[in-house]
Amino acid sequence: MRRLTSLDSLALLIAFGFGACEPRGGSSGSAVVRDSLVARTSGSVYRVPADSEIPKDAVGASIRRGRALLVDTKDSLPDHVGNHLRCVSCHLDLGTRANGLSLIGVYSRFPQYRSRNGLVNLIEDRVNDCFERSMNGTVLPRDGRDMRDLISYMAFLSRGVAPPGMVLGANVSNMTPLRADPARGQTIFAETCVRCHGPNGEGTVLAKPLWGPHSFNIGAGMARLRTAAPFIRYNMPNDRAVVLTDQQAFDVAGFVLSHPRPDFKGKENDWPNGDPPPDVAYPTRASVIKAKPASAPRTPTPSRR
Ligand code: HEC
Ligand code: HEC
Repeated sequence: MRRLTSLDSLALLIAFGFGACEPRGGSSGSAVVRDSLVARTSGSVYRVPADSEIPKDAVGASIRRGRALLVDTKDSLPDHVGNHLRCVSCHLDLGTRANGLSLIGVYSRFPQYRSRNGLVNLIEDRVNDCFERSMNGTVLPRDGRDMRDLISYMAFLSRGVAPPGMVLGANVSNMTPLRADPARGQTIFAETCVRCHGPNGEGTVLAKPLWGPHSFNIGAGMARLRTAAPFIRYNMPNDRAVVLTDQQAFDVAGFVLSHPRPDFKGKENDWPNGDPPPDVAYPTRASVIKAKPASAPRTPTPSRR
């Protein structure tokens, strides 16, 4: 564990001194931020724009409708949602909770190169990734009203944040990866998660499914240990201050992710340049080709497809 430098502390103060978001223990525990991130935030402050800043015109109407779509995703867009989740199931507090997959500043983070598809992505691409994977659904038409409204709201959440849009508290927190013990995670799950997510992770009236047919699919970011663990560490249980240690967060995330969930067709084409992160739960074509000579020494002539 790394001690926070005075620069970190200052940056955290700046990051959490504004807006309605509680840091939920952000300044204690493991380093929430890396020096590189601190450096890249240069000047942008975590700020949740007030409702009064929504203009009273057509743009304002679009912002409000976009925000509503984030909440009533399935009811509003039934053809595009294939599970029981909604955008705010993960982008907590309407996308404004620090360390809760916050969308503050997101409009300024695009265009962005993403190794997952090896392309420069526009924000529309990123929204549709969540539709296809996190929502286990189908893409929204890029030029339709729904996409426009969603992005209007995201642009509103990004007011005052200059490109490249890095703000402390947005994105997933950086945690030192730990080895997960799903058996220990099962005990934590029973004690800490069942009351809202149900004994079989199936969801209740209080919270949504964590695995099974109505959850996010295997291609989703949340299906990766290094995304799920910090999300859980800093946000769950949803009604309390941080209670889990880093190790417990990895253990319970490991337990959650050890269960079946919907497949994602075409997942093997992810990371076309053969650079998947180590916690991706499925083989990709490019990495199989790249890794074969080293990881399969007993195969004399690795077949290339
Ligand atoms: C199962 C959880 C989950 C759900 C549900 C979900 N997302 Fe996401 N979303 C993520 C994760 C994980 C990331 C990656 C965050 C990162 O890389 O820091 C992400 C990233 C994003 C980003 C880019 C954020 C950034 O800072 O670069 C956008 C935009 C986004 N989601 C929009 C949506 C929309 C719109 C919906 C609903 C249609 C949605 N998401 C539903 C988990 C989810
Ligand atoms: C007090 C109730 C409560 C408890 C306890 C709780 N959660 Fe949650 N959880 C929520 C709510 C509420 C959401 C957001 C759901 C929504 O608004 O659609 C959520 C969302 C999530 C999500 C993202 C959405 C999804 O359904 O996949 C994950 C992952 C998650 N919780 C994991 C956990 C884990 C692991 C634990 C135990 C350490 C836990 N939660 C404990 C209420 C709770």
